[in-house]
Amino acid sequence: MKYLISILFFYILAAPNYAILSSGVKGEKEIEKKVKSLLSRMTLEEKIGQMTQVTIQAVSKLQGTKDQHHELDLEKLEEAVVKYKVGSILNVYDVSHEIDYWHEVITKIQDLAINKTRLKIPVLYGIDAIHGATYTKGSTLFPQALAMASTFNRQLERISGEITSVETRASGIPWNFYPVLDIGRHPAWPRLWETFGEDVYLVSELGKAYIEGAQGPDFSIDTKTAICLKHYAGYSLPLTGKDRTPAWIGERMMREYFLEPFRVGIDAGAETIMINSSEVDGIPGHANYHLLTEVLKNEWKFKGFTVSDWEDIKRLHTRDNVADSPEEAVRMAVMAGVDMSMVPYDFSFYEILLKLVKDDKVPIKRINEAVERILRVKFKSGIFENPYPVKSLSGSIGTDEHAQQNLQAARESIILVQNENNFLPLSKDIKLLVTGPTADKLMVLNGGWTITWQGNEESLYPQDKFTVLEAIESKIGKSNVTFVPGSDFSNLLDIEKAVSAANKSDAILLCLGETPYCETPGNITDLTLDLAQLELAKKIIDTGKPVILLLIEGRPRIINSIVPGVKSILVSFLPGMEGGRAVADILFGDANPSARLPITYPRFVNDFTLYDHKQIEAKEGNSYNPQWEFGHGLSYTTFQYSDLIISKDIITRGENLSVKINIKNTGDIKGSEAVLMFISDLYRSVSPPVKQLKGFEKIELTPGQTRTVEFIITPEHLSFYGIDFKKNVEPGKFVVSIGKLKKEFTLK
Ligand code: BGC
Repeated sequence: MKYLISILFFYILAAPNYAILSSGVKGEKEIEKKVKSLLSRMTLEEKIGQMTQVTIQAVSKLQGTKDQHHELDLEKLEEAVVKYKVGSILNVYDVSHEIDYWHEVITKIQDLAINKTRLKIPVLYGIDAIHGATYTKGSTLFPQALAMASTFNRQLERISGEITSVETRASGIPWNFYPVLDIGRHPAWPRLWETFGEDVYLVSELGKAYIEGAQGPDFSIDTKTAICLKHYAGYSLPLTGKDRTPAWIGERMMREYFLEPFRVGIDAGAETIMINSSEVDGIPGHANYHLLTEVLKNEWKFKGFTVSDWEDIKRLHTRDNVADSPEEAVRMAVMAGVDMSMVPYDFSFYEILLKLVKDDKVPIKRINEAVERILRVKFKSGIFENPYPVKSLSGSIGTDEHAQQNLQAARESIILVQNENNFLPLSKDIKLLVTGPTADKLMVLNGGWTITWQGNEESLYPQDKFTVLEAIESKIGKSNVTFVPGSDFSNLLDIEKAVSAANKSDAILLCLGETPYCETPGNITDLTLDLAQLELAKKIIDTGKPVILLLIEGRPRIINSIVPGVKSILVSFLPGMEGGRAVADILFGDANPSARLPITYPRFVNDFTLYDHKQIEAKEGNSYNPQWEFGHGLSYTTFQYSDLIISKDIITRGENLSVKINIKNTGDIKGSEAVLMFISDLYRSVSPPVKQLKGFEKIELTPGQTRTVEFIITPEHLSFYGIDFKKNVEPGKFVVSIGKLKKEFTLK
């Protein structure tokens, strides 16, 4: 009977998907026909135009800065679209625009493409809508990726994808250069906060959830965008920790860690991929035939297109010195598998590639393949049917409902890492001193890719959003709150005033962290938190008053010297536009923290051991001794884990294993718990990590309530890239662990 019910249930759930699937296949056949037919009518110039992408700066009168409104140069635009027949235009310089302005810009571009080009191929506009529609005024800006990862909540990630797509599409833009599926395994890398953290499974799962929400199976729908996975592959482990500097990653670890999220993302339907701006093992991303063609296109059968990162084809000559001329750089990149060049300021790529084909240095077959891929995505994105902005969506930018979802994401993203004697939550009649450089700025909550590239123009932030200080004042009343900055990011300010105010308060909220940055400008030479901030902390701690440390930062700055002196610590990896309210809700118990660290928080600057380290990293004189472990995070309630049950002690190859555990809320208030399942492979031919995350589920429990969480371990979860670089499962013993409970099983 149970079996029957589950079959029935399966059909009910699956039926609509079958419908989508079959119409999808039919739709795909039609698209293939259209692509072939259009391609057969194109001249070489038209084809190479499609492979060319320029920045809007290349077709603008003024640069468009915070002081000058951007203005299109219609002559230059006509040159780009009509003379050079560019396939794509991107971005903005360098500030968000009103939605009407976006509509005007996109309409002018498409008018030219539709009315003045022979084949009327619409331009595919692409943008960095990173934690929301970055460059549309008033948009909903979510916690950044590392903070979203801290939620361990797929549903929230899916929703953030949905909302970002609606608001981007409402701006008239159908293509988003997001999500970042690099895994953040170097804590100093200035793009760490753009990742979903250090774990390959977490990154893959959240990437998939984002893709489902943002793009879904059909991105011709008005509310969806084509997404772009980036930066393929191996970008996130620079040896130096500095952006765009070399990585040394061997083939096996490349596949096991860095390629895996991209493979999963492609399976989930990603149709465009941006290339690693740096180099791996001496081969720049844009010259890497193995990764771009052999793996991505041949092995994985990726049907979409690859786009270069900013100016990176030129850089094969000007920076990486692998091409001895600009011509060789273009030849190398196109032959490696780059389909579209983000040139982005001029038409040199077009001119050079045209000549290379005419001189038989690049075969027309390769051009046809690239253009076919680009046209396929254009057809799938629906812009042939309607290249223009969908005006009816205008009302969907920054709605109250979106703000509410954003607030929920922000609340679930703030990690309580220390809470001595349950010092938090605070009572609302406390006299609080708020101090430190991250207390009263919206930009610190948001980081880069917010309104501007660097995200550091505080004056442009929406005044109706709350900083941490404003949110606290509004919650407990201004008369209960004193604010003294104490320091900026790197200098002490009115320190005596801060100390004297501390002495008069019941407790101090010490708000430290980082100023916004993005990409190379965010490079640092020391992971330790700025000395002025540590000095402020020490002075405040010395008052003997209870201190709550709030860290708002894009990467884990070292703070070991002040940890013992404070009662409670909240870590937030850029909680977004509702971050101020979320912090206040958590401080005063209007929200119960449920976030966990998606990275290992290092204790020392030279100790970057990650949670899924090899045995030797925690043996024979070494130790895994971080400030806080990956997955660490506290709540205001308590959870008891019990009855870990596995369906079998011995499984055979190809078999699944069910793992069940009971979780009980043993405290007095409602709370959510991210339940994490780790697997350890005890012995195998490639040295195993001590453990790896292979399942997570976020559940909410009322006081006294118990829920059973079930995970299914599949052969995929037990596999790894073997000595022969192939995915493999080896028989042997495994241990599954959830909380402090463990069970061993054997694979025969
Ligand atoms: C970044 C990409 C971004 C591109 C376009 C590059 O500098 O690396 O992540 O999508 O610019 O703005």
